[in-house]
Amino acid sequence: MTTTPLKGRKILLGITGGIAAYKAAELVRLLKKEGADVRVAMTEAAAHFVTPVTLQALSGAAVWTDLWDSRVADGMGHIELSRDREIILVAPASADFMAKLAHGLADDLLSTLCLARRCPLMLAPAMNVEMWQNPATQRNVAALYEDDVLFAGPAAGDQACGETGLGRMEDPADILEELEAFFQPKRLAGKRIVVTAGPTEEPVDPVRMLTNASSGKMGYAVARAAREAGAEVTLVSGPVALPTPPGVSRVNVRTAAEMFEAVKKSAKSCDVFISVAAVADYRVKNPSGQKLKKANGKDLSLQLEENPDILAWVASLPKAPFCVGFAAESEKLLQNAKEKRARKKVPLLAANLAQDGLGGEDNAIVLLDERGEHDLGRGPKIELARKLLEHVAGMLKG
Ligand code: PMT
Repeated sequence: MTTTPLKGRKILLGITGGIAAYKAAELVRLLKKEGADVRVAMTEAAAHFVTPVTLQALSGAAVWTDLWDSRVADGMGHIELSRDREIILVAPASADFMAKLAHGLADDLLSTLCLARRCPLMLAPAMNVEMWQNPATQRNVAALYEDDVLFAGPAAGDQACGETGLGRMEDPADILEELEAFFQPKRLAGKRIVVTAGPTEEPVDPVRMLTNASSGKMGYAVARAAREAGAEVTLVSGPVALPTPPGVSRVNVRTAAEMFEAVKKSAKSCDVFISVAAVADYRVKNPSGQKLKKANGKDLSLQLEENPDILAWVASLPKAPFCVGFAAESEKLLQNAKEKRARKKVPLLAANLAQDGLGGEDNAIVLLDERGEHDLGRGPKIELARKLLEHVAGMLKG
């Protein structure tokens, strides 16, 4: 069953004046779809770009724009409107608004709500690239970081003004992910976690290789869930076409040998090692330096040699981190996975069928540990990854 981390969460969405304000309408729609309780406050400038009526229709609640709004019974709108909120998200946050926040100014409803808040504040900046890079803006960003303000973006790309660079507001779906991450329990705060993900590529010649169908989605979901749970995460990634999850540090590798070297550097000092990568068991013994020619109707043989078993190596370290293996089987899932767990000597193994897990957005996982089997069910990879990390946190606690 799909769980929605934002269901019932009380969010105050602040909208400031900028062309990206139109994206706030989509953000409200997505938040409502997730079951969030959204209240909207807009600056006067924001109302020039998107009307309060639009936001009211989408949020299903009154929209607030005026510090002197007589609808708030005690006249304390600047305080009351944020008191029951769990977070204030300002999207888009203009350069001018961030400057106000950095200096503690409160001359309209939204800036006053932010100054009088008791809950965390997240900003999704949106502005021209030169405005973002201006030293004054960067000083304000640094001051806001100091004040524990959270940031979603900005993103890089084409801008409404015709210029290109950093300063675009993050896409609403990405902001939603940042909010979901914010609401995850920080069960792994203070832990260092290394995750491997994706396939490896073993060269045959300069243009050919041996590889597999791993997309990296499961490993990236595990890295994201670990970061959401408060861990410091290093992601050692084979060649995939996926963006790095926010806050995760990524090391790109191609071959199993390169992955082994990267893991050797990071795994010795980590608390948890999660091996999601579909590492090639074999590599070509003598890859050709030149493109191989056709053998005129004759068979061609490649001599393969075994790659190091990275997970087994980490698990056998004298001070081994807590190791989690994955097993993708095409048949006899539990029997094969149990044997694999015993052979690799790992306390926890996530078993999935290759036909369930490879490539797609969803998966079905059964965890195996010394207490037996724990069926995580079927669902989006990020949800299974969160459940896996919850299980890991429980095992670490003992
Ligand atoms: O990337 P996706 O498209 O999202 O697909 C996800 C997945 C199916 C690849 C993933 O969920 C998964 O099951 N990964 C493990 C793949 C696998 O079959 O591993 P294995 O049975 O070959 O190896 C078992 C364990 O040893 C794995 O943790 C693997 O990372 C590790 N291993 C294997 C070989 C090797 N030389 N070194 C290793 O560390």
